[in-house]
Amino acid sequence: MPDKNRLSVAMIGHGFMGAAHSQGWRVAPRFFDLDALPVMQVVVGRTGAEASAEKWGWQESASDWREVIARDDIDIVDIVTPGDSHAEIAIAALEAGKHVLCEKPLANTVAEAEAMTAAAERAAEKGVVSMLGHTYRRLPATTFARDLVAAGRLGDIHQVRASYLQDWLTDPETPLVWRLQKELAGSGALGDIGAHIIDLSQFITGMRLTSVAGTVETIIRERPLLESTSGLGGTGGTEKGAVTVDDVALFTGRYDSGVLGIFEATRFATGRKNALRVEVSGSKGALAFDLEDLNSLEFYDATADPEMQGFTKILVTEPQHPYIANWWPAGHMLGYEHAFSHQAKDFIDAVTGGTPAAPSFADGLQVQRVLAAVEASSANASAWTTI
Ligand SMILES: NC(=O)c1ccc[n+]([C@@H]2O[C@H](COP(=O)([O-])OP(=O)(O)OC[C@H]3O[C@@H](n4cnc5c(N)ncnc54)[C@H](O)[C@@H]3O)[C@@H](O)[C@H]2O)c1
Repeated sequence: MPDKNRLSVAMIGHGFMGAAHSQGWRVAPRFFDLDALPVMQVVVGRTGAEASAEKWGWQESASDWREVIARDDIDIVDIVTPGDSHAEIAIAALEAGKHVLCEKPLANTVAEAEAMTAAAERAAEKGVVSMLGHTYRRLPATTFARDLVAAGRLGDIHQVRASYLQDWLTDPETPLVWRLQKELAGSGALGDIGAHIIDLSQFITGMRLTSVAGTVETIIRERPLLESTSGLGGTGGTEKGAVTVDDVALFTGRYDSGVLGIFEATRFATGRKNALRVEVSGSKGALAFDLEDLNSLEFYDATADPEMQGFTKILVTEPQHPYIANWWPAGHMLGYEHAFSHQAKDFIDAVTGGTPAAPSFADGLQVQRVLAAVEASSANASAWTTI
């Protein structure tokens, strides 16, 4: 590694996203020319962080995030805990002058998201950067989709369709993990995966949702209490507890342009493991992104001669495509984890270059308001609800 400015990172949390973010911090400076080297200094966990530090390549581990945030040698705080602790950790870190990268959804409530956004705006006046981790924005194909829309290749947008389908809750024996408890997760499929398609649809189209009408539903209302975690689920005991979040969220949204979008977020789509899909239809063309085929983007050119019209599958692996020039030759494929390297790269660029960090906490607050509006609509006979 060339001798460069260094930015020491403290990562709070060491589960699924802990592994993914570690990969991002480790790999980004080796493939992208960054103006500062992120140093994987300390991973923080209430228990077991030592083993994670060893496994993922952090220099040290700690058990108390408050002590770590108080350290002068920490520049960046990376929050990869469940939503119930995002506000407290992020606000403390920003007030201590640390740059903050926080996982989505920004918070568990609109009030928390507002407090975090206010803290981020105060910190920004002192040059402190904050960013939210909607990683699906950072895939070459989704960024390219955004570029095509911005270049006018779709013409006027007429409609948006977005779905995020998983099936890990179809088994009633899947225990009551934190994602099923409102006080820890804020909401269920809505905030966990619905937040991604809200953000991604807005990112690709440049439009913002201004009202929604929807329904949320809990299909299995009681589950075994958790005994041990494994992946998203785990093993449960004989006692049961109440599921206090939605399993499924279905809603229609209207964007600031007047365009309608349709959204489905569910953990009950049997056979669908992690199927995120966004389709945008316009006057001159259409595009479709499917996470299960993440190196590709489908594009339909409605201005082509009629006999030549049809969806074209573009392999988004050319050096001209976003992020690709720093990876492999054309056609050599990227995976889920590359988006986390792109996230680390974009965050370091924002810290060192003053480029705006996106999505910002204010963007996260707007998504949080959409989530709250869907819940309010559901509680009010699915009435249209303004955001
Ligand atoms: N960007 C994405 O695609 C994506 C994917 C999955 C999860 N997420 C988000 O990442 C966050 C973490 O999810 P995950 O799947 O990694 O969860 P996880 O359960 O795998 O890991 C959570 C970690 O946080 C720790 N933790 C919990 N509460 C804590 C507290 N109060 N203080 C300190 N540590 C605490 C746990 O011990 C664990 O190490 C959530 O906000 C989730 O929505 C984002």
